[in-house]
Amino acid sequence: MVVRFLFVKKHPVFEPGTASGFDAYTHALALAGALRTQFLNGYGGTFSQLNHAKQCYSFRHFCQIRRNWHKICISNLQLYGELTNDAISVSHPRYIQDAIRYHLLREVAHGGMGVVYEAEQLGAGGFSKKVAIKLIREEFSTVESFQRNFIGEARLVSGLVHPNIVQIYQLGENLGQYYMVMEWVNGNDLETLLERLWEADEPFPLEWACFVVSRICRGLDYAHNQRDARGRPLDLVHRDVNPRNILLSHEGDIKLTDFGVAKALNLMFSKEREVIAGNDDYLSPEQAQRRITDRRSDVFACGVLLAEMIAGFNIFAADTPEQTRENICTMRLPDFRELRPDIPDELIQITRRALERDRDARFPTASEMMTALEWYLYRDGYGPTHEKFAIFLERWLKD
Ligand SMILES: Nc1ncnc2c1ncn2[C@@H]1O[C@H](COP(=O)(O)OP(=O)(O)OP(=O)(O)O)[C@@H](O)[C@H]1O
Ligand SMILES: [Mg+2]
Repeated sequence: MVVRFLFVKKHPVFEPGTASGFDAYTHALALAGALRTQFLNGYGGTFSQLNHAKQCYSFRHFCQIRRNWHKICISNLQLYGELTNDAISVSHPRYIQDAIRYHLLREVAHGGMGVVYEAEQLGAGGFSKKVAIKLIREEFSTVESFQRNFIGEARLVSGLVHPNIVQIYQLGENLGQYYMVMEWVNGNDLETLLERLWEADEPFPLEWACFVVSRICRGLDYAHNQRDARGRPLDLVHRDVNPRNILLSHEGDIKLTDFGVAKALNLMFSKEREVIAGNDDYLSPEQAQRRITDRRSDVFACGVLLAEMIAGFNIFAADTPEQTRENICTMRLPDFRELRPDIPDELIQITRRALERDRDARFPTASEMMTALEWYLYRDGYGPTHEKFAIFLERWLKD
């Protein structure tokens, strides 16, 4: 005996909107949806019948139409269906409870927020998948405001799936210590590349500088435009675009990581009320002045990055965080032509526009900055690709 046709009726005490009621109701609708596909595939029942069933106000009303329906109770949810001998069998578990194990292979780096490991996620039958795990420093994990903000942000950014953003798979807690499981990016970060070029006294090729920043703008624009399930803008801002948060894979992929982390960290103060995490060298003027930020803050950070790749050093960085902040807000921008004689006017204009202190004068969106860079890059019809970037990276990042 199997359910041939299904009608879902909410149990009166489980209204949509309450956690369990909503869950059960959506699950049942999903079941109905799955069955609908089978009916449409010729197993009996029709789409319009099913829709009709869903539109019925009550079971009694529905029974007037079909008298031979049976009530099936699945965890407080009343489902009504016709039991037949047709061979349609549907098994839909509601949850899968599985203890996922991670094997930490090696420590990759110590960051402001914790330690990053190369790890393996282990599954059935010898399955294993490479992941990156960031163990959050214990002193953060125990601070309640951090927990709230970190978890809140992680929930928002968990939906970000984009080729230029490092994907978050899971946020977990182990003995009171939080950890994040992320996509493993097999490669290096942009800081390492900048250092290697600096050590070799080689300028960063302008086309690769523009290519990297254009891909970061692409990822940022996707995140900036995210909306919640009800269509309201999430107003995500990265706030910590810097070379350590830009990962370059051996295949030439360019990915931004640590989305949402800066927001949680911004609220971390030491006993002396000093911010104890965050990167001062890439702040926007509005961040440096502790004003409210929006997506244009990330555009400014992209400008700082681009200027750094052009000049070979961070143009604002000073000996003290205070002086750096001062430079970000007021310092006269350097003459980029003097620093880099081969730079075309168009690229100087793009860099200066991203670095406008007045955010109304900046590129209004990351997408506009990306387009400006791409116009510049592909003006001759052919330009940088990920494959060519991979060849460039191999030369400089070979271990
Ligand atoms: N998903 C990943 N795949 C591979 N390597 C990674 C991954 N995430 C981070 N790393 C490596 O770990 C380094 C440190 O990252 P992490 O974000 O912890 O440090 P940070 O950016 O200096 O500090 P913060 O914690 O303030 O962001 C990165 O620069 C990169 O080299
Ligand atoms: Mg980071």
